[in-house]
Amino acid sequence: MGKLFGLIGHPVGHSMSPFMHNDQFANLGIDGHYHAFDVHPKDLEAAIQGIRVLGISGFNITIPHKVNVIQYLDEVDEEAKQIGAVNTVVNKNGKLIGYNTDGKGFVVSLMQLAGDSVLHKKMLLVGAGGAARGIYITLARLGVQHIDIANRTVEKANELIASCSFPITSNALSIIEAEKNLFNYEIIINTTSVGMSPQTGMIPIDLKNMKAGTILSDIIYNPIETKWLKLGRSLGGVVQNGVGMFVGQGALAFELWTGQKPDFKGMEKIVRTQLGGN
Ligand code: ATR
Repeated sequence: MGKLFGLIGHPVGHSMSPFMHNDQFANLGIDGHYHAFDVHPKDLEAAIQGIRVLGISGFNITIPHKVNVIQYLDEVDEEAKQIGAVNTVVNKNGKLIGYNTDGKGFVVSLMQLAGDSVLHKKMLLVGAGGAARGIYITLARLGVQHIDIANRTVEKANELIASCSFPITSNALSIIEAEKNLFNYEIIINTTSVGMSPQTGMIPIDLKNMKAGTILSDIIYNPIETKWLKLGRSLGGVVQNGVGMFVGQGALAFELWTGQKPDFKGMEKIVRTQLGGN
């Protein structure tokens, strides 16, 4: 009998995960199917109970359930605990185990762009919300020595830094402070929603003090290239959009569910096609 996988979020109508995972099931000859379920926050507990009863083999969790789902799971792995959010659940013989593949998915895609040496570079994270948290904790856990965090609300950057139990040197900065000293960084990562459709005319941080050759990674993939990345490219930056992180988190989830490594490039291609890119 085939295995069922899925996504729980609200809304999920535009999710590309079903295309990406179902394509890999077909390519690898796995008898599985992935479906997106729109679950209102008030129904989350019932939905998780439904998953148990129906024996769904694994699922992803997206906005707004990544934090709240934790209370309904049987176990949460160490990294997801540190991040405080779960995006992937494995049903292991009836036991629901939570993981977080968002941060690692980002790191995998960054390494594909620039190699393992990225972990030795000086980084600036823009934003201090949920997405920033996953990336920051994962990078700190992997041994990155220096990551500063710039955020509109500096206090939130301070809180994120204080919550990290891994050894790392970090300063919380205002956006203006970071803009003045941008030449200090070799990698700048936008984790905010600034520039995302429909507000495509905004940029999260100005780049005029950036060194040419700096890696600019934007976790946004809609639009596929934000105004910020276009600006960065014109100033000599090496740019990366959010498709890589999205595919990275999906590929790691797929591996947790099936024990098989999916075709990263194939997944990337299908997502780009869905987004109308090439
Ligand atoms: P996510 O889980 O997607 O990271 P979030 O936790 O709401 O979402 O975090 C959103 C991030 O984008 C925050 O860093 C937020 O800044 P604040 O902490 O000051 O709210 C940032 N952000 C969102 N809209 C912004 C805007 N218009 N200008 C500057 N920063 C913005």
